[in-house]
Amino acid sequence: MKYLLLATLPLLMQPLQAEEQIDAGENLYKSRCGMCHQLPEPGMLTAGQWRIVLETMQKRMGHIEMPPLSREERERILGYLEQRAKGL
Ligand code: HEC
Repeated sequence: MKYLLLATLPLLMQPLQAEEQIDAGENLYKSRCGMCHQLPEPGMLTAGQWRIVLETMQKRMGHIEMPPLSREERERILGYLEQRAKGL
C-alpha cells in the first residue's frame, strides 16, 4: 500500500518533462537503496542531508563489496530524492 502511494502521488505532482528522469531515479533508488533496509521516505530529509547520506551509504556498500553507485546513478537518485525532499 505504501509503495503504491509512493509510486503514484509524485507522478501527479511532477511537471511533464521532468517525469522520465525522476522515474529513472526512483527505479534506481528502489533497486539500490532497499537492499539493506527498508526504503526511507524521501520527505524525511532535506536535499543537503540526502547528499551526505548517499556518501555514507556508498561507504557501506563498499564494506560488503557491493558495487558502488556510478556518478550517473548517484545523480539520478539524488535528482529523485531532491524532488521529494523536505524544504529547509
Ligand atoms: C550496504 C547496505 C546498505 C545499502 C545498499 C544502503 N544502506 Fe542505508 N543504511 C545502511 C545501514 C547499515 C544503516 C544504519 C542502520 C539502519 O538504520 O538500518 C543505514 C541507514 C540509512 C539511513 C538512516 C540514516 C543513517 O545514516 O543512519 C538512511 C536515510 C539511508 N540508510 C538511506 C540509504 C539510501 C538513500 C541508500 C541508497 C543510495 C541506502 N541507504 C543504501 C546500509 C545500507
